[in-house]
Amino acid sequence: MKKYVTELTTLEERKKIRVQLDHRFALVAIFEHQPYAILDKCPHMGAMLSTGKYENGVIVCKDHALSVSVVDGLVTDHVKADFLKMESYARDVRTFRCEVDNGKVYINY
Ligand code: FES
Repeated sequence: MKKYVTELTTLEERKKIRVQLDHRFALVAIFEHQPYAILDKCPHMGAMLSTGKYENGVIVCKDHALSVSVVDGLVTDHVKADFLKMESYARDVRTFRCEVDNGKVYINY
């Protein structure tokens, strides 16, 4: 399925947006003028990643500060993940493909 998210200019201004898919939510964020999307659920204890601090393609969960790349959904700070006692197989966040068509951002899920 494909869903309209927002205008690309709006995403450039806001940097990140939370969007409902079906029963799930995704975090859509801009990085180097391209939109990326990951499941809006921290791989640690399930907090909403979209409420975290976002900078340079990385979202930092506001609950325990785990950092995740919105580009590939991978945890970027393995020292922190080790500290949080996360198994290595449970550190990836699902990604969704985004596309831009005529200045509009869409997410495929
Ligand atoms: S729930 Fe996100 S770091 Fe703990």
